[in-house]
Amino acid sequence: MKAAKTLGQFIIEKQADFPFAKGELSRLLRDIAIAAKIVNREINKAGLVDILGEAGTTNIQGEGQKKLDVYANEQFIAALQSGGECCIVVSEENDEYIYIDSEISKNAKYIVAIDPLDGSSNIDVNVGVGTIFSIYRRKSTEGKATMVDVLQRGVEQIAAGYVVYGSSTMLVYTTGKGVNGFTLDPSIGEFCLSHPDMTVPKDGNIYSINEGYYAHFPDGIKKYIKYCQVEDDATHRPYTSRYTGSMVADIHRTLIKGGIFMYPITAQAPNGKLRLVYECNPIAFIVEQAGGKATNGYERILELEVKELHQRSAIIIGSTNMVNKAEEMLACFS
Ligand code: AHG
Ligand code: MN
Ligand code: MN
Ligand code: MN
Repeated sequence: MKAAKTLGQFIIEKQADFPFAKGELSRLLRDIAIAAKIVNREINKAGLVDILGEAGTTNIQGEGQKKLDVYANEQFIAALQSGGECCIVVSEENDEYIYIDSEISKNAKYIVAIDPLDGSSNIDVNVGVGTIFSIYRRKSTEGKATMVDVLQRGVEQIAAGYVVYGSSTMLVYTTGKGVNGFTLDPSIGEFCLSHPDMTVPKDGNIYSINEGYYAHFPDGIKKYIKYCQVEDDATHRPYTSRYTGSMVADIHRTLIKGGIFMYPITAQAPNGKLRLVYECNPIAFIVEQAGGKATNGYERILELEVKELHQRSAIIIGSTNMVNKAEEMLACFS
């Protein structure tokens, strides 16, 4: 039986893709993978240790933080601080960005944006949750990195990935040369290549949206939802509805099976709910690299101007032909 290729071996092999890089990005990816294993360990025993429930604090999003939000945030920030490759961390759970001012990081050239725990509402009910990360190279070449280095458009990302803590724990990432998925083998504590060259089918028959907000969706989205529900054998409709409340879990399914995930604007979220810097942009980079499409209904996510750390955006993402159909209806009916 052929030995599985570990994430570390894969990264070294792909090193050749980056002749100019001296291994810093590789070390950064390994730092993130280590934090993911630590978080995975806590999630796997969540019911047995005091890690469930509310932390009793609120983040800048106005969300009550879960203990695991705080724990995961601490682990990823600690891993990035000690790894020496990252000069600034942006996190959903921190109002401002964290400047890493240490001897080991003085030459660090990477900015990392993270959603340390995605799908927090699912933690206490044992439904899949995730972590999302996005990596940029700082633009400035001297002195301290600043907000200018942070507020870069999604097209400037040099790597992005997510961890999905589900029936198995997987790390999926891209450095702009396709998407590869690694499954954690707990018996050796390594992420092993299990899903090489992941691609999103151009078509799918699963639509994913929180229909509880139907009354508040733009008319074009309402029309598209009705389109998904109409009987039509030629286009395999009605589609199936699947929505977990964890973006990472819904996107992982979409990557593998095809489909469309939508979080449009609603009355409660007039700019959309999902955050551009550490949710929409990294996930859009991955889905595009897998051959899918990601827009806000009108513009490509990766080209949106980034003006604030916690800026929100609507997102329609997944199988290209399905996203095109939804955009067509938005253009006709909004
Ligand atoms: P987070 O847990 O990081 O705050 O993100 C939750 C997000 C996303 O994971 C999910 O798709 C969406 O919130 C669900 O929102 P609704 O509960 O409004 O459907
Ligand atoms: Mn949150
Ligand atoms: Mn999230
Ligand atoms: Mn989160």
